Amino acid sequence: MMTSYLNRRTALLAHMQSQGGGVAILSTSSEMTRNSDCHFPFRHDSYFYYLTNFTEPEAVVVLVAGKTNQTILFCREKNLEREIWDGYRFGPDAAKNQFGFDAAYPTESLDTELPGLLSDASTLFHSWGHDTRLDAQIQNAVSKVKEKSRSGVLPPHKTQDIHALLNEMRLVKDDTEIATMQRAAIISAAAHERTMRMTRPGMMEYELEAELLHEFRRRGAQAPAYNSIVAAGANACVLHYNTNNSLIRDGDLILIDAGCEFDSYASDITRTFPANGRFSGPQQALYEIVLASQTAALAHAVTGARYMDGHNAAVRVLTQGMLDTGLLDKNKVGSLDDAIQSGAFRQFYMHGTGHWIGLDVHDAGNYRDNNATADTGTITDEKPWRRLQEGMALTIEPGIYVRPSGDVPEQFWNIGIRIEDDIVITANGPLNLSRDTPKTIAEIEAVMKRP
Ligand code: GLY
Ligand code: MN
Ligand code: MN
Repeated sequence: MMTSYLNRRTALLAHMQSQGGGVAILSTSSEMTRNSDCHFPFRHDSYFYYLTNFTEPEAVVVLVAGKTNQTILFCREKNLEREIWDGYRFGPDAAKNQFGFDAAYPTESLDTELPGLLSDASTLFHSWGHDTRLDAQIQNAVSKVKEKSRSGVLPPHKTQDIHALLNEMRLVKDDTEIATMQRAAIISAAAHERTMRMTRPGMMEYELEAELLHEFRRRGAQAPAYNSIVAAGANACVLHYNTNNSLIRDGDLILIDAGCEFDSYASDITRTFPANGRFSGPQQALYEIVLASQTAALAHAVTGARYMDGHNAAVRVLTQGMLDTGLLDKNKVGSLDDAIQSGAFRQFYMHGTGHWIGLDVHDAGNYRDNNATADTGTITDEKPWRRLQEGMALTIEPGIYVRPSGDVPEQFWNIGIRIEDDIVITANGPLNLSRDTPKTIAEIEAVMKRP
């Protein structure tokens, strides 16, 4: 049985006790209307799910760290009439047993239960501004407690940001999470490979998007983790392109940034490959630079390295490549160090080299260490970058994007390349979850070889 979420509740309650106790309140996401009476596909809130594993809408979890600890779920009641139309709902009784709560009530009873739960709780663990309806319910409950102050009860006298606490927990993945993320990445790798095999000049970008989705769903992933980017030719230089409606031409490079969500965990993989199955000389030259920069960054995906070390290593390789190929003119930008220092490389590499990944594709967690002093032991305005630890998961995704410009050799115009993998930090070095996705020029050309 999957029990990670029970352990997380226990860990959070222990932390709350160490802060003098209190009450934590989190809601899941709201259903959103798409148009008329149609909804967007419902996706539970990641923080809520992390502590509950409960995926129905209209639910709230309350954790009480008091004289005794108590975990309470508020969820939709069973409703056989609605279940005929919309499907199964647990209802409080079954949810309490299935998900290991001490108590469960219908969502409607939150307003009546909250004042009692908040009475004499010293700290409210809540994240204001995330769910305005829940915020109002809590404020009403606090007012009700205040009305009873003459009888001696008091509302919480301080608030701690529950998301900030959970961000720290979510940053380090447990074995169950890593196993789920591995399954997500395997499915996405298969989708990328399938799409490479199916690609022919003359197809439309959306046909490739359909191949990705086909493989995601065929293998049991519930959804794409984010809108798939299928960008041929010049579109690859638009970083968040996802209209995916252009014709794919012979000679184009195609950048695909796509990953599925499997059992609530994201994958996020980018590959760039030639529409006709063979890299041209200029495409090959830039591809090898991006690949080498990713390898350089990967060497820093180890315990103890600073979060930004990988980015800095990638920038160094990319910038050297830009100088070697003439993308950057040495006479104008000077030496490698000058071009890095001045930020000249940003003409072709304007984003960071990755992000945390987990329940959210851009996952929770600070990138800087809020508690640390600077390496020198002195306190500076700038907090140092966080050091990587076993169980952290991040993407490594360097790229080069060349927009047409008079100061750039024309052979490179409209080439956009990104290579992105999903990495877990382990005691034995980086674990590449997306390792099955063809990546070297030889691997890609072998997969795309036409009979
Ligand atoms: N696919 C979103 C990203 O790469 O960050
Ligand atoms: Mn990414
Ligand atoms: Mn991506």
